[in-house]
Amino acid sequence: NKAVKVGLLGLGTVGGGVARLLMEKRAELSAYLGVDLQLARAVDLEPARAEELGLAPGVFSSDSWSILEDGDIDIVVETVGGLEPARAMVLTALNKGKGVVTANKALLASHGVEIFQTARQQGVGIAFEASVGGGIPLVRSLRDSLAANRVTSCLGILNGTCNFILSRMTAEGAPFDQVLAQAQEKGYAEADPTFDVEGTDTAHKLAIVASLVTGAQPRLDDIPTEGITKITPLDIQFAGEFGFKIKLLAVLNNQGGKVEARVHPALVPHDHLLASVEGPFNALHVNGDWVGQVLLYGQGAGRRPTASAVVGDVLELARDVAAGVPGRVPPLGTQASGGRRLDLAPLD
Ligand code: HSE
Repeated sequence: NKAVKVGLLGLGTVGGGVARLLMEKRAELSAYLGVDLQLARAVDLEPARAEELGLAPGVFSSDSWSILEDGDIDIVVETVGGLEPARAMVLTALNKGKGVVTANKALLASHGVEIFQTARQQGVGIAFEASVGGGIPLVRSLRDSLAANRVTSCLGILNGTCNFILSRMTAEGAPFDQVLAQAQEKGYAEADPTFDVEGTDTAHKLAIVASLVTGAQPRLDDIPTEGITKITPLDIQFAGEFGFKIKLLAVLNNQGGKVEARVHPALVPHDHLLASVEGPFNALHVNGDWVGQVLLYGQGAGRRPTASAVVGDVLELARDVAAGVPGRVPPLGTQASGGRRLDLAPLD
């Protein structure tokens, strides 16, 4: 039986979790696949991270080429984050015929078209479940389970950091900065937490949701975005007195031939399902023309839930590698190809 070899780029919060999960469950995951699933190499600029994780000798390297140029590595997991060098690494891996798993929402929201087209040309798989909603099986639900539907709207809480901050401010009246520091300690926040609190991270995720729903990718500039930095404890208190919670919402409307996507804080009535989504949890409320309403809910940030989603993707790609069939690429990414473009509606 051939081994399926995984190369891991980045050993931060998510990458470190992926390494740990692949090592801890190697026997079970290999038995499930019917081939040995091996963490062959892991790259980070900080050797201390590798020591802390207890990687086997020879697995750690500080050079990403040790993964990208290794013809034996079948699947590359990118948890570096940010646009460059992550983009170059992902494209190189795909061009070298390796399947790619990425958790990088910023990268997909900005360069998804190029990445999906490259994967398609090379006949290798690309998977990105962890890019939206942490551990929630949200990408696969939209892509596969709900594929028979026209999704008419989605309403989401897609940033664990913001939801954690708003929950704590509501429950304890805690000051914004103090709760943000806690979110950073817990590994929820981005390397640059302004991406979280200004709504940018939510907009990245909404762009991915929009592309899953419509098949075309919106430009980030077409998603009006406002974060939570202007929300005060007094706003939260008044909202509560009138029967509302303040949540940072991702809104997608896909009706009447128009797509509207926006991100902003909103008053959510206490009896709405999304009002009970607290802490680092995320949720996506989906309306489909046949399925009706669906609520996808779970932990949207943090090491373990996000690693769970990444390793689920690794298993999906590993199955195709083991079977010797081309990897799957979702039918996305038409924006730059001159194909279908999102006709984004103006805001009222
Ligand atoms: N910073 C992100 C969040 C991590 O808080 O939701 C998960 O994408």
